[in-house]
Amino acid sequence: MKAVLVTGANSGIGLATSAYLVSRGFHVYAGARNTDLLKDLCKNPNIIPVKLDVTNVKDLISLKKLIEKKGKGLFGLVNNAGIAKVGPLMDVSVEDIRTQFEVNLFGVHQVTQALFPLLLEAKGRIVMMSSDSGFFATPFVGPYCASKFALEGYADSLRREVLNHGVKVVLIEPGRVKTPIWQKSEKEIKKGGINPSSIFWKEAMAMGKYALQKGKTSGLPPLAVAKTVCQALIVKKPKLRYIVAENKFEYQLMKILPASFVDKLVTNKVQKVIRITAKKDKK
Ligand SMILES: NC(=O)c1ccc[n+]([C@@H]2O[C@H](COP(=O)([O-])OP(=O)(O)OC[C@H]3O[C@@H](n4cnc5c(N)ncnc54)[C@H](OP(=O)(O)O)[C@@H]3O)[C@@H](O)[C@H]2O)c1
Repeated sequence: MKAVLVTGANSGIGLATSAYLVSRGFHVYAGARNTDLLKDLCKNPNIIPVKLDVTNVKDLISLKKLIEKKGKGLFGLVNNAGIAKVGPLMDVSVEDIRTQFEVNLFGVHQVTQALFPLLLEAKGRIVMMSSDSGFFATPFVGPYCASKFALEGYADSLRREVLNHGVKVVLIEPGRVKTPIWQKSEKEIKKGGINPSSIFWKEAMAMGKYALQKGKTSGLPPLAVAKTVCQALIVKKPKLRYIVAENKFEYQLMKILPASFVDKLVTNKVQKVIRITAKKDKK
């Protein structure tokens, strides 16, 4: 039975991934900041709850000791934990960008570095939960996009460093997935994440409302991502990147179209969304 650690296992994609992996015969270490939230998941004896804030070194030291004590090694690491800070970049504080990177990049580095000796021993796999925002940067989601672009660069370098040592690094790039991340972003915006006196207020609010509405109603189920993570862990030759989205073709097109053309598409879309939102608000 191969052992895998999933970070951010108490919610959304991490929760679905932990449950799915155990159903496919993995032994899962489910990491969460608050392990009370793992009670239901951990009714299965093959899922072990572990307290893990990816920014906390003490948690990592205890976790490593626990994994070593269990004696099952560690074949897989799913770096899933993440947060999304949004807002017009010219209004976002440097603290918010630091917080964003603290979890989505430095946290990933810290966890991966600490557990690498175990993954090396198992000739295992490191799965990075990136996003469509890791290759396609949308306006007013700048902190999040920057962190996921950084993660993609980190993963590419790491993959090329560890390849000859038998460890594989895989990026998962989901589009919109229906998880609590959208409600969390909404709360932040309501708390004043977008400043009404900003010159970007109208565009940012319209895009924010549009994205939140889409995320809450039309995203893919987290299970779709969970299945892809499982594939990345079990197939002999995993892809380097897996896009998990309904509109995969559109994304692939965005990767090859000239950036200036994509800029026009994006700005036209922002204007369209402003018009749609204004109409809806009038009703
Ligand atoms: N939903 C989407 O549309 C989508 C699309 C592409 C990529 N993704 C990526 O998928 C991953 C999971 O997101 P999700 O949509 O499932 O969101 P979610 O339901 O909000 O789950 C995020 C998880 O990360 C955890 N987390 C946050 N900060 C942490 C920290 N410092 N240490 C440890 N855990 C921490 C959260 O724990 P708490 O409950 O304690 O906050 C939660 O368990 C993220 O990396 C996200 O960027 C999501």
